[in-house]
Amino acid sequence: MGNPFFQPGAQRASKVRQLFDGIAPRYDLINDVQSLGLHHLWKLRVVRMADPRPGCQALDLCCGTGDLARRLAARGAWTVGADFSGPMLEQAARRKPLRGAAVSWVQADALELPFADGSFDLVTIAYGLRNLSDFSLGLAAMQRVLKPGGRLLILDFGKPANRLWRALYFAYLQLAVPLYGRIFAGNADAYAYILESLKNYPAQTGVNALLQELGFTSLRVVNLLGGVMSINYGEKC
Ligand SMILES: C[S@@+](CC[C@H](N)C(=O)[O-])C[C@H]1O[C@@H](n2cnc3c(N)ncnc32)[C@H](O)[C@@H]1O
Repeated sequence: MGNPFFQPGAQRASKVRQLFDGIAPRYDLINDVQSLGLHHLWKLRVVRMADPRPGCQALDLCCGTGDLARRLAARGAWTVGADFSGPMLEQAARRKPLRGAAVSWVQADALELPFADGSFDLVTIAYGLRNLSDFSLGLAAMQRVLKPGGRLLILDFGKPANRLWRALYFAYLQLAVPLYGRIFAGNADAYAYILESLKNYPAQTGVNALLQELGFTSLRVVNLLGGVMSINYGEKC
């Protein structure tokens, strides 16, 4: 039987939203447990690569509980955090701003962004692209809201090129991660979803190709932990 939260087609977005609405209060805790806290370092790497300048306009899409948005704001960027899950945004809004830097939280669907063309110098998306019903449409929406020369950074689960490493990592996602979901959120399926969605995600190499098709330039792929995670970078020309 398939994963109840992974439904290709018309129901994809509503199932994903149901998933995150349900796990929002435990999301940060399980993130720390399943990554052994490493997701903080990976997000810091994104912020370092993004190098936001004070006053630049930044959008963190699929912001969830706001880890990345808060860090961009703390570096002086005027930051909008957008997500379609109300409960995830509530968690984000409850957190104390880093260095007193506020973020504007906006409830919005990544495929129907309520921002004018060319609004942002920087768009980031962490663990979000994999959840969209159409990756190309999502990337095109990000491209639309970027200014010419604007930067896009995508952090997500990757697919390691080494087959043994990939098999071990997929086994971890299949066996251990749903167990954490059961223990900490009472929901194993919500965490078994990660592997299901990853299998259907083009990951670092495929995303790089999609960015190229869309005309992004200065493309870079940074593999973290042997490709277990990856950052895709591109600039809008
Ligand atoms: C795995 S969480 C990542 C949260 C945060 N970026 C982080 O790194 O911790 C994925 C987030 O994407 C949001 N999301 C998924 N599909 C979306 C869509 N179509 N539009 C807006 N948000 C979406 C979910 O609500 C969820 O908060």
